[in-house]
Amino acid sequence: MSDVDRSIPDRNLALELVRVTESAATFAARWIGRGDKIAADQAAVDAMRLMLDTVSMRGIVVIGEGEKDEAPMLYNGEEVGDGTGPEVDVAVDPLEGTRLTALGMPNAIAVIAVAERGALFFPGAALYMDKIAVGPEAADAIDIDATPTENLERVAEAKHVAVNDLTVVVLERDRHVDLIAELREAGARVNLIRDGDVAPAIAAAQLGTGVDLLMGIGGTPEGVISAAAIKCLGGAMQGKLWPRNEVERARLIEDGFDIDRVLTTDDLVKGEDVFVAATGVTSGALMRGVRVVGDHVETESLVMRSRSGTVRRITATHPLTKIQSLMKGAR
Ligand code: FBP
Repeated sequence: MSDVDRSIPDRNLALELVRVTESAATFAARWIGRGDKIAADQAAVDAMRLMLDTVSMRGIVVIGEGEKDEAPMLYNGEEVGDGTGPEVDVAVDPLEGTRLTALGMPNAIAVIAVAERGALFFPGAALYMDKIAVGPEAADAIDIDATPTENLERVAEAKHVAVNDLTVVVLERDRHVDLIAELREAGARVNLIRDGDVAPAIAAAQLGTGVDLLMGIGGTPEGVISAAAIKCLGGAMQGKLWPRNEVERARLIEDGFDIDRVLTTDDLVKGEDVFVAATGVTSGALMRGVRVVGDHVETESLVMRSRSGTVRRITATHPLTKIQSLMKGAR
């Protein structure tokens, strides 16, 4: 992995990036509840790709839609941006929650993270990661190597509340049966989600969302994107690669990954200048989803930058006619 490039981006790129996620979200929203997650994802990818080349950056996709042969757009290694401005790593999830969108369920978002070249953790063949994420008050309290009960106790103490008052979001998966049982036994509330662990990781790092922690095993790419947002918000995330079987374990070790290593927020996102933009596709604890209001489409987005710590919540209205003409140009 290359060293972090110290050339300092001098603008708040996130303010340009939000146009990219707004575009992805509005395109994907046409597929909400239509049962076709592939079409929803494709719409988001097309829209994100269309807008990305207007952003002043020399970006390389580090986390994208996969390998070039399988992904015609936003593949890992693809150059994006208008070819001017800072050299950066780009992580995209044009539609985080493809199934959520197809099923009309909450918390699907479009999200992009940008950091200095070499700053983002390259997940390689590490598809899954065990994760724990919290907000600023509990940033020093978590330890992924401790038991779930210990983590609850430490987070409760740091937040000056009882364990009973904590809400933990966990993906509803068979692999989490023991985790869920232990969290409930310890007294916490467990909010099970069908998909989409980026939005709840970001929610855990923000006050007033009703989410205190995200815990459990989810996608590694999603973990890196969550870490970028958490870095901006001042919370903390820890992760540990989670090979699904012996073959995956051997492959990761062969590729040079240390699977026992605890990856901190700074390991996952090394840079000092990190930009994240996220737009709601379907409504959830973090953001409202895309809505058609008369002849306009309304979006809600979060725009963050780590260097300044600025977090903006941007509501935008887009004339339907503009969206329709963009759609014509997308493919
Ligand atoms: P989608 O592919 O439907 O967008 O799902 C994304 C996601 O739910 C992530 O948020 C999560 O990290 C990961 O998939 C979990 O993977 P799996 O569904 O294989 O357990």
